[in-house]
Amino acid sequence: MELPTLDSARLENRRVLMRIDINSPIEPSTGTILDDTRMRSHIATIDELSGSRLVLLAHQSRPGLEDFTTLEAHSRRLSQLLNRDVRYVDDVFGRAAREEIRRLRRGEVLLLENVRFCSEEVVAEVRSKPPAAQANTNLVRKLSSYVEAYVNDAFAVAHRTQPSVVAFPVVLPSYAGKLLEREVENLTKVLKSRERPKVFSFGGAKVGDSLMVMEKLLSRDVADVVLTSGMVANIFLVARGIDIGEVNLRVMDEKGLTPLVAHARKLLEKYGEKIQMPTDLALKKNGSRAEAGVEELPDLMIMDIGIDTIARYSSIIENAAVVAANGPAGVFEIREFALGSEALVKAMARCRGFTVIGGGHLAAIAAKRGLRDKISFISTGGKAMLLFLAGEKLPGIEVLREAGKNDAGNSGGLG
Ligand code: 3PG
Repeated sequence: MELPTLDSARLENRRVLMRIDINSPIEPSTGTILDDTRMRSHIATIDELSGSRLVLLAHQSRPGLEDFTTLEAHSRRLSQLLNRDVRYVDDVFGRAAREEIRRLRRGEVLLLENVRFCSEEVVAEVRSKPPAAQANTNLVRKLSSYVEAYVNDAFAVAHRTQPSVVAFPVVLPSYAGKLLEREVENLTKVLKSRERPKVFSFGGAKVGDSLMVMEKLLSRDVADVVLTSGMVANIFLVARGIDIGEVNLRVMDEKGLTPLVAHARKLLEKYGEKIQMPTDLALKKNGSRAEAGVEELPDLMIMDIGIDTIARYSSIIENAAVVAANGPAGVFEIREFALGSEALVKAMARCRGFTVIGGGHLAAIAAKRGLRDKISFISTGGKAMLLFLAGEKLPGIEVLREAGKNDAGNSGGLG
């Protein structure tokens, strides 16, 4: 089914609501945006809509996390990147936001407040409903009556069934933005590739999501090797009976991750030979990096994968036909614990196969080390990218296809 694109849209002077994903790594204590890759990725679409009255809708993090914050700093950074004013209103669909939208002139851009400040965007009762029912939320009813079209450029959140992602296409003419189009085009190449081995690397802290995607990749025989690092690896180590130390068990517990050990154990029982775990780790000892084998871990905070693991993972990556990686291998914000994450990115840069990096953290490392050009494709999606590569249909993309089917006026499209 065709994906309706901006090539077929007539949006000059129209009020257009565009969902973008500028969820960025933020230093929680200072509020500093550590990487603006995701913002840059929307520039082409925003430029394409320079003749419209553009309203941007986005989220930052999730309720309960330290970096769940307003989008004020994002609007300033976007203004710098676009070299034009991006106005910001600390409201999503209330009177202040609607008044700002009404006042928009041709060529002006307005960024609304973090859409996840609205309960309708986050509660499971709404997210579990079909798009047509979600179109009855206040968020969608109020905003859709102030705009004439919807553009989804937020590939990174296309796997979520949230009103800002799936409900506007039910009530508005809707199109895929340039970024979404590019993501679908490039990831389809990987999805259709018959080359083996396909290696998937999972790091970072979103363990529940990672286990879910991993299971899909393994059960559908998409992944030949799965590399684990970061908090994902800690869970697998515990599942295999390794003592990771009190301090790390406590962190796992505080983050509510302990129940996931059972899921990891099941994955090991079924697909154990394909799942790689660290054999050594880097720990924080008196503020510095200390290495230890997983069989003899002292009770210190785990900060990175160890040197032997780095060498083994790097060689697996270098010899792969396809590599997709998401999430850092350790606390990469601290220089001496960035070793593992940097090594994985460097190995991907050396690999002759098709390499895809997803999520903001590894992309930031590739940019910092000047390796962006050596990676075949840098996706703005994390879980969205992995699910797409697992052959899953992403709700945010499916509703657009549906909208395209119903809009007889659409001619341009992407298969
Ligand atoms: C991401 O960072 O992967 C996207 O912005 C989606 O965020 P979420 O996992 O909090 O929905």
